[in-house]
Amino acid sequence: MGKNPAHHKILVIHGPNLNMLGTREPDIYGHRTLKEINAALKAQADRLGLHMETFQSNHEGEIVDQIQQARDSFDGIIINPAAFTHTSIAIRDALSLLNIPLVEIHLSNTTKREAFRHISLISDIVTARISGFGPRGYLLALEGLTQLLTKPEGPALVIQASEDSNHEKP
Ligand code: DQA
Repeated sequence: MGKNPAHHKILVIHGPNLNMLGTREPDIYGHRTLKEINAALKAQADRLGLHMETFQSNHEGEIVDQIQQARDSFDGIIINPAAFTHTSIAIRDALSLLNIPLVEIHLSNTTKREAFRHISLISDIVTARISGFGPRGYLLALEGLTQLLTKPEGPALVIQASEDSNHEKP
């Protein structure tokens, strides 16, 4: 059994140029600012009863430091390494130090874009990946990570017929 969500601590890491969301290539990344995304995440974390912190940096070493510090203090990480996804062995190695669920997220569907974005240096070490849902992907990541932490065995897959449906209940 997983822990009560109230005891879970989640860290969300945003990589380079994500501080420019809102004005940065809105056709690709949407119009939401990082502040708005973080506020939506915070509201969702409060609803789910989680402790959540966010961190953004344009600097690879700072992201590595943050991941190392998370080692003993967080139960799960959601990370959008942005351009470092495609280049950073240092971030991969730092994430490999951790023994907690990791969710890789991208606003855009990276495999639909330029060839250099098809490669993720962390895809084979993360627990799950979300790509192409825009800002709402962060909320999906938080929801999914919470499920992984609280119900590691998965949900009970029962489909309940609605009251007005013609189907007989099992
Ligand atoms: C991104 C995709 C990366 O290729 C790009 O460098 C980013 C953002 C995304 O969220 O879609 O900065 O990670």
